[in-house]
Amino acid sequence: MSDSTNEAAGERVVALTVNGDSVRRLCPSSRTLLDFLRVDLGLNGSKHGCDVGDCGACTVLVDGIPRLSCITLAVEVEGLAVRTIEGAGPDEARIVAAFDEHVASQCGYCTPGIVLCLSHLYSEDPAADDEAIRQALGSNICRCTGYTKILAAARAASQREASQPAQGGSDE
Ligand code: FES
Ligand code: FES
Repeated sequence: MSDSTNEAAGERVVALTVNGDSVRRLCPSSRTLLDFLRVDLGLNGSKHGCDVGDCGACTVLVDGIPRLSCITLAVEVEGLAVRTIEGAGPDEARIVAAFDEHVASQCGYCTPGIVLCLSHLYSEDPAADDEAIRQALGSNICRCTGYTKILAAARAASQREASQPAQGGSDE
């Protein structure tokens, strides 16, 4: 079997960067990015929720932009930089700390996607207000918290980021 493709078997090599590491894997052309991350790479932080693009549990960053990995094929992100919650840096750690303080995570299923969405928001708007936070999290469903604590944590993280000097963080 060729190292690059096995199109007769519906497989393709996908080469991309995941959390700063170069990855090159043969996988079915129909493999979702979510399954590529979870099954092929063993990165289980991104969650299966609805699997149809409605809940945000599977959100990852692709070239820094939130993307629903359940409705993205692995082959679509060929050559791009993917970041999952396993690749969290100082910016995400600050958001997670705010979630801990505000008890904004219960079962935690929604949390990785929300943290990555907030990380992207603060990268563009460090002092994001409530409206901006609500919009950024508009596609992230939480079945546990009722959102009040998530908003409180997000607000706290925003205020913290606005009052702290920018950190180096990831180059993705
Ligand atoms: S699992 Fe992807 S949006 Fe719900
Ligand atoms: S904490 Fe359980 S789904 Fe959000």
